This record gives sequence, structure tokens and C-alpha cells, in this order.
Amino acid sequence: MTAAFDRNLKIAPSILSADFANFGAEIEAVEAQGADWIHVDVMDGHFVPNLTFGPPLCKAIRKHIHTVMDVHLMITPVDPYIDAFVDAGADILTAHLEAGPHIHRTLQAIRGAGVKAGLALNPGTPVEAVTHLLDMIDLVCVMTVNPGFGGQKFIHSQIAKVETLRAMIGDRPIHIEIDGGITPETAPLMRAAGADVLVAGSAVFKGGSVANPAPYGENIRAIRTSCDTLV
Ligand code: DX5
Ligand code: ZN
Repeated sequence: MTAAFDRNLKIAPSILSADFANFGAEIEAVEAQGADWIHVDVMDGHFVPNLTFGPPLCKAIRKHIHTVMDVHLMITPVDPYIDAFVDAGADILTAHLEAGPHIHRTLQAIRGAGVKAGLALNPGTPVEAVTHLLDMIDLVCVMTVNPGFGGQKFIHSQIAKVETLRAMIGDRPIHIEIDGGITPETAPLMRAAGADVLVAGSAVFKGGSVANPAPYGENIRAIRTSCDTLV
């Protein structure tokens, strides 16, 4: 093993709340304002009731991402598209446990394709479902809203899920990512429960733009600072 696993707080703005006509500039603006990772929400209008974009868009924005390209697949099936998203430049590919009957095979295929494997859990999915998958994943994404849309309300019942997950993970090099409804009010709850990656869409992009990116930085700092007193 090399360096210690990074459990420092990372803020991952979701481009779902960015200007869809200007992704490249939005990504560069939010990175310049302190984003640690870039979260990319892929939706198929089938697994979730909304449609966003696929591998060609991911490939096009890749050259604007200088941090980590964190691709959240809200699609089913997953397996036929893994190679396309790897080719598009994903650093982490996260599939939903609920996306099909063979999540074990999907995770094997993601790692086999040479990228980090993430596993996302819907709010109704018990955390024990990850027990036999812990040695094949690099990240667990705990959904704190039902996937499909930005700007929804945080589901508080997921706090206990994250605490249990943190204990299950122990010393394993697995990130705990939280996705949905993260604000300076909810972020510290999840940080305290054991999360290290906080996805935030509306709370990061609100009030700013490519022409006026300073609010992005203020919003990121507000989330970060809200967690400071805990560490
Ligand atoms: C929801 C997406 C989230 C979403 C978060 O299905 O996976 O990444 O963009 O948006 P906010 O932070 O606005 O809840
Ligand atoms: Zn997401």
C-alpha cells in the first residue's frame, strides 16, 4: 500500500444544476472555485423518470475536467454501456444496486474495464445489501433523495444508514458519497455519520453563473465550513 486512504472531505458539484448549454465553462468555473470532484448524472428515462445525456457528452466534457470525473449511472441495463463510459474518460463509474439482478457481475465488469467501481443505493435499499460486495467496490453512493431530479428534499432516515455503512467499511479503502439535498444544514450530519464525498447540485450552482462564478465558491465554502467544527 502507498499513502493512507483519503477520507478528507470532498465536495462534488453535480452538473445537473449547471447550464446545459455551457458545460465546459461551467465545469472550469466550479473547479476554479474549489470543487474537488465533478459529479456527472446520467439518466435514461427508464430507471429514473428523467433523461440527461450519455457517453458522447461525457467524452466532450472530459477535457474540461481536471479533478475527478465521477459518473453516476441512473440507467438500466448498465453492462452494455460500461466500455463506452470508460472510453469517455470516467474515473469512477457508479451503478445502482437496484439496476438489475446481477450487480456483482456489473461491478466486476466496471473494475475489469480499468476504472474505479461505485455502488449506489436508493433510499429504500437496506445497507446490508452491500455486505458481499465490499471487496469489489471503491465507493458507495448513499442516495439521500430518490434519484431522478436535482433540488429535492434531504431524507433524514439515511443518516443511520451511513453510520452503519461506515462501521461495515472499517479500514477498507472505500469512499462514502452522499447524493441529494446536501446543503450547509445537511452536510455536517452526513460528515459526522462518516461520509467523505458530498455531492451538491442546487446548493453549489445557485446564485452564480459562468459570468459571475464567485457564488459557486461561496456556496462550496459554506458547505465545507459547515463540516469544519466536526473534524
Ligand atoms: C439526483 C442526482 C443528484 C442531484 C443532486 O438524481 O443523482 O446528483 O443532482 O442535486 P441536489 O444537490 O440539488 O439535490
Ligand atoms: Zn448523482
